[in-house]
Amino acid sequence: MPDTLNIGLIGLGVMGQRMLARLKNHPRLRACWVWDARPEALSSTLQAYPELRAADSAEALIRQPGLAGLYIATPPAAHISLSHAAFDAGLAVFCEKPLTVDFAAARDCIARIEREKLRAAVNFSLASAPGLATLQRAFGAAAKHPLGTLEAVQIELGFAAWPRPWQAAAGAWLAERTEGGFSREVLSHFIFVLQRVLGPAQVLASQVDYPADGLSAETGLRAELRANGVPVQIEGRVSPEVGVPDRNRMHWRASEGEIELREWFGLSEQRRGGKSEPLGHVHGESDSLRSQAQADQLEQWVALIEGRSHALPGFAEALAVQETIEALLSAKA
Ligand SMILES: NC(=O)c1ccc[n+]([C@@H]2O[C@H](COP(=O)([O-])OP(=O)(O)OC[C@H]3O[C@@H](n4cnc5c(N)ncnc54)[C@H](O)[C@@H]3O)[C@@H](O)[C@H]2O)c1
Repeated sequence: MPDTLNIGLIGLGVMGQRMLARLKNHPRLRACWVWDARPEALSSTLQAYPELRAADSAEALIRQPGLAGLYIATPPAAHISLSHAAFDAGLAVFCEKPLTVDFAAARDCIARIEREKLRAAVNFSLASAPGLATLQRAFGAAAKHPLGTLEAVQIELGFAAWPRPWQAAAGAWLAERTEGGFSREVLSHFIFVLQRVLGPAQVLASQVDYPADGLSAETGLRAELRANGVPVQIEGRVSPEVGVPDRNRMHWRASEGEIELREWFGLSEQRRGGKSEPLGHVHGESDSLRSQAQADQLEQWVALIEGRSHALPGFAEALAVQETIEALLSAKA
């Protein structure tokens, strides 16, 4: 019977709670020690999961004997320093996106990971999505191009309000332009997919709408990019007119057909001209594809900890995503 892998979790807000729920019945990964800078987050977590143990500080958690890995679900500002502390203790790190907005610190950290051959990955939930695998088969570097030549990619995002209702309890950072906003929080997942399939994207033009208060995150973004020669269009907005809390769609148009990701894990594929060469992927409801992706993500995490090959994005890939996001947010139209 393979060993249990003990996990420490730092950051017990919205995402930390989601990960605790996912880990609850996993046969290998066992949430063990927890820490949050807010005492109330720590105590409510211990109430919900009495089997967990609370550390006295992040440093104390990281130094607990018997830990195999650290999961970091704080806001971005603490991601890099907590990762270094975990590496010092010999732990594998699974960190939430966005990696950071401090690029110099990220580059130092990536150099260390490469130099010391450390185990580190960032949680882009679409990394394990059947939709991404389908796109790679259709348009990735090794693809046989069953849908012909890729002509254009379109990303559309809409939110009735920001933050979304399920993240209403998150800290103020999420609604502020220094670290939060829908581009870093949501668009980053689709830029990850784009760049995993096509390689680095170049921002050609970007127009960002900000509220006049000088503090709040963007309410609109329209941009044009190019990735591996393919034009990419982005349109995102926060407006009550959107009518639903969270709408997203990523559309890939090719000469012989199209693939669409919708509402995160939803996937559909259409072939022009009635040809029936299958892509070999599942058509299905978003929910079952989501469950499949989440289960697979935990298996990838086990592989990361055990030093086996895995498909989770590393810190360098996550930084490349963030560089595109920050370029979008700072570019002039
Ligand atoms: N992968 C995904 O799909 C996904 C979804 C939502 C959020 N996220 C990411 O997860 C991270 C957390 O987001 P959230 O929505 O849970 O935020 P949140 O504000 O709800 O929770 C963050 C928690 O971290 C704690 N914290 C802050 N600084 C800390 C520190 N230095 N040490 C210990 N605890 C600290 C806060 O007290 C809070 O409880 C962000 O990076 C966010 O972008 C990822």
